[in-house]
Amino acid sequence: MRILFLTHAFNSLTQSLFVELTTRGHDVSIEFDINDTVTREAVSLFRPDLIVAPYLRRAIPEDVWRNNICLIVHPGIKGDRGPSALDWAIMNAETDWGVTVLQATGEMDAGDIWAGGHFLVREATKSSLYRREVTQGALDAVVKAIGKIEAGGLVPEPQDLSVAFRPLVKQENRAIDWARDDTATVLRKIRAADGFPGVDDVIGGNAYALFDAHPETGVKGVPGQIIGRRHHAICRATRDGAVWITHLKPARTAGERPFKRPAAMALGNELDGVPEILEPTWREIRYEEADGVGYLYFPFYNGAMSTDQCKRLEAAYREACSQDTRAIVLMGGGDFWSNGMHLGAIEGADSPAEESWRNINAIDDLCHAIITTETHLTVAAMRGNAGAGGVFLALAADRVIAAPHVVLNPHYKNMGNLYGSEYWTYLLPKRVGEAGVSRVMGRRLPIGAPEAAQMGLIDECLDGGKIRDYAKAFANAGDVPARLAAKRKSRREDEAARPLAEYRKDELERMRLNFFGFDPSYHIARYNFMRKTPASRTPLFIASHRRMGGK
Ligand code: COA
Repeated sequence: MRILFLTHAFNSLTQSLFVELTTRGHDVSIEFDINDTVTREAVSLFRPDLIVAPYLRRAIPEDVWRNNICLIVHPGIKGDRGPSALDWAIMNAETDWGVTVLQATGEMDAGDIWAGGHFLVREATKSSLYRREVTQGALDAVVKAIGKIEAGGLVPEPQDLSVAFRPLVKQENRAIDWARDDTATVLRKIRAADGFPGVDDVIGGNAYALFDAHPETGVKGVPGQIIGRRHHAICRATRDGAVWITHLKPARTAGERPFKRPAAMALGNELDGVPEILEPTWREIRYEEADGVGYLYFPFYNGAMSTDQCKRLEAAYREACSQDTRAIVLMGGGDFWSNGMHLGAIEGADSPAEESWRNINAIDDLCHAIITTETHLTVAAMRGNAGAGGVFLALAADRVIAAPHVVLNPHYKNMGNLYGSEYWTYLLPKRVGEAGVSRVMGRRLPIGAPEAAQMGLIDECLDGGKIRDYAKAFANAGDVPARLAAKRKSRREDEAARPLAEYRKDELERMRLNFFGFDPSYHIARYNFMRKTPASRTPLFIASHRRMGGK
């Protein structure tokens, strides 16, 4: 089928759907919902058999939905209607939730239902549920709906209009009452608003939106007060415990469009005198051991890795290498394995160019430590998506595995034509050959894990639940000493052919130009990315109907 995606952005769900439907042989093109005229133009250029709206914030023009079947992905169960479906589900502590695929009509979410499914609601942020359960549910439901449409003759089920339309959640619904709310309530409120719009609150007389909260059970204090800090996170007391908050977004002002940044960076001097909590019950980087394998978890918020986070992860990695184990598995986070440098910490720095330089060097140091590990076999186990430098960081490991649903964006170009580092010029050709390098770096499109395995970018696809069995077998096979010896030999040969330092030097020379050179593209792209500047047109690499006039 010719399927046009009409979407607000090429977000994670849209990318997963794009990968799924193109893999199934559909011809998919994408148009951002910019205005009605542009939408009509896209429809007439592409002449789709079907329009799918995976992530839409506005109504589809009437002539478009009347003349085409338009399927809307709604992150709610049958009967649920309104723009804050997941927010309400989390705030009301629903345990069973779902996704429905509805046909667009004149009324929001009121059209007939083509397909849908249910999932159990994890204790997680809205965006985490969206990226995992909702995305999987949407894939299943859209595929099912397309099957029905292709089969023909099937009539969709009417939406249950007896259930009331639920309005947009407002900040007054989200507000935290620090004196009254217990930890569970505070967490639920912040998670229901995370990644967007956050919960508005006041710290030291200034307004911020709060993001990425985790429970702390080891300390107590006056509810609402900042009672401790740890690295970039702050710890605030609740009625019955405390919560860590890692990211803040300052309130919008007349002259500045704010963006999220690490909490300690946002608060600056405000934290003077706040004690460091040295033994917290929540840790950003976690290490576990089982069956001769060390597992390193680093679920950094949004997969972004600041200079400090890279350094701490490198230290944790080196510590893991000093243990009496045979393999180390780099587990990343459940939502994202890694998305490379922390563009928010860079954007908020006094000198973004200098901070970019520090950040890329810190991530390169971490890569170097992984590439040159001689004592252990290493595995990068991607349970969540990875982008840009995050993908190449994974390639530093001996084995790279990814869950089948994982979507990779192994390119830097979308961030203002960044050249990229992380030793990609060493790591990528080893995996995909010289011909594969331009295919991977030039294409700018997301790649699903199965395709990545097929092209040799990763070693294999494996369900997240099977990682431990895989690692155990890998680390306890009789040939581990032989494999380590082969690894040392191959590294020595590679080093003799061209030292790692040279790859790094060449990459960083190009990055230096990106950061400090005449062309400001990277700084402009980062500025817009962090502030979510709406797109004014759909990039041609995803809008195939606009290339060659749709032919
Ligand atoms: N630094 C800071 N924040 C980042 C980030 C990074 N490297 N990568 C992603 N994020 C944030 C986004 O701002 C967004 O924030 P939100 O919670 O306010 O919505 C969130 O992570 C999710 O990102 P989004 O772009 O909506 O996710 P996606 O699944 O649609 O796309 C990527 C994934 C990786 C393609 C996209 O996030 C991206 O291009 N990231 C930048 C990668 C990069 O250039 N890194 C630097 C070079 S190494």
